[in-house]
Amino acid sequence: MIGIIDFGSQYTQLIARRIRELKFYCEILHHQTKLEELKAKGVKVIILSGGPGHVSNNQLNFDVRILKSDFYILGICYGMQLIAKVFGGKVSHGKIREYGKTIFYPDKKEKIFKNLKNETVVWMSHWDYVSKIPQNFEIIGKTENIEISAIKDKDGKIYGIQFHPEVVHTEEGKKVLKNFLLDICKLTPNWNSFSMVKKIEEEIKEKVGNKRVICGLSGGIDSSLLSIILNNVCGKNSLSIFVNNGFLRKNEPEQIINFFENKVNFKYIDASKTFLEKIRNVEDPEEKRKIIGNTFIEIFEKEGENFGAEFLAQGTLYPDVIESISPFKGPSARIKTHHNVGGLPEKMKFKLVEPFKFLFKDEIRKIARKFNLPDFIINRHPFPGPGLAVRIIGPVTEERLEILREADIIVEEEIKKADLYNKIWQAFAVLLPVKSVGIMGDKRTYANVIAIRIVKSKDGMTADWVKIQYKVLEKISNRIVNEVKEVNRVVYDITSKPPATIEWE
Ligand code: XMP
Repeated sequence: MIGIIDFGSQYTQLIARRIRELKFYCEILHHQTKLEELKAKGVKVIILSGGPGHVSNNQLNFDVRILKSDFYILGICYGMQLIAKVFGGKVSHGKIREYGKTIFYPDKKEKIFKNLKNETVVWMSHWDYVSKIPQNFEIIGKTENIEISAIKDKDGKIYGIQFHPEVVHTEEGKKVLKNFLLDICKLTPNWNSFSMVKKIEEEIKEKVGNKRVICGLSGGIDSSLLSIILNNVCGKNSLSIFVNNGFLRKNEPEQIINFFENKVNFKYIDASKTFLEKIRNVEDPEEKRKIIGNTFIEIFEKEGENFGAEFLAQGTLYPDVIESISPFKGPSARIKTHHNVGGLPEKMKFKLVEPFKFLFKDEIRKIARKFNLPDFIINRHPFPGPGLAVRIIGPVTEERLEILREADIIVEEEIKKADLYNKIWQAFAVLLPVKSVGIMGDKRTYANVIAIRIVKSKDGMTADWVKIQYKVLEKISNRIVNEVKEVNRVVYDITSKPPATIEWE
């Protein structure tokens, strides 16, 4: 097993992703993990991440015994400086920061740089640099600015590189990681979807055993896959509960029911009236979100008890777990209370099983394909747990839900027709709390306004509005005003995130 020790670099997750892409299993570990824990976990190879700190004061309380044990070690940026410092070299503070693309001259005799070009572009981001190497180490690469840009110890087990091989701008970065893991550590690349599924199943078996487990099924990829795997492992002892809160998109409940009802131990609960009654006069977005979240919890608690469940399975993914490992990350301000069915809160009475918590989203997609989940699940755009309720600005009523549902399906259809659906993050309609004057067939109208939101994003944290072709917008607009009663105006949202958020509420 490969352990990545996280010193707070913004790229740590990327190290893990690259290594897994190379088909090696790795985990990101807390910077204060002790030597004994690494041994107990069966770690053989250590990668030390970059980080914003200075190595001079070991402010992170890193267990330096780790470096003097018998692991293969690769230190990246801060990690290399740490190696130099611990073994008696010197780390100095640079006058200028070496930042961005830089030419690196590798020592081509070194296995770690096998098949690299003589001059290769790497990504640098550092002030501090190694100004003197420790005894028993040698220099194996330099850049125009820095003489000591890569080092190794004479036994050939400990390596340090000042650049970031995990970043795509380092053109041959993946090769460096591969050389290190294959040729130096002699690991076998065997991490694939089969081993991922095996690990998930083992975790479920070990935790749940013969007890009963429920999972909230939303039709999103995580909870859908979870539901299928739970059913395979626990059979009738697992129950997938699909709650219709009344805020789903057109045809969505039918699609989910059709696909799952004969595949897993499945329960459908139509709670749309209950949800709607609870938020009928609520205007405040946070209030809406809280009421909807709490209503979900009440339903799951009741259903779980009826089923005799001791466990609740959740589709928590690795990035959420990594957040809690990384140093220097303070709690960020709450912008809105996110909620989704697969991620019911921990305060519920059940014990949690989170068998995806070592996986990235793209790994989930790979497994989902292996399980033949349909396209409408695998490639579905993200959809908030509170659903259309947070896309109707102001109070939610049956009539307004109907208007939004009809407008929303038109957006989806036209985006698919224009072959854009899989190229963007989200495309949806929002119903605004204003009416505007229009004219239709010589008659004055006074009707609703729909806003269209279409964004590109990598992870939902930031997003750009899509400069979509006018003819697609035109088609969407024409269809909405012609086909959806009570709408006479369509506007396009041209705000990115930040400063706006993706959803309006
Ligand atoms: P915001 O509006 O915060 O949204 O910019 C970022 C991404 O998250 C989705 N979103 C949610 N997803 N439960 C979810 O599972 C929620 O409560 C929720 N609220 C927003 C949103 O659609 C966007 O992709």
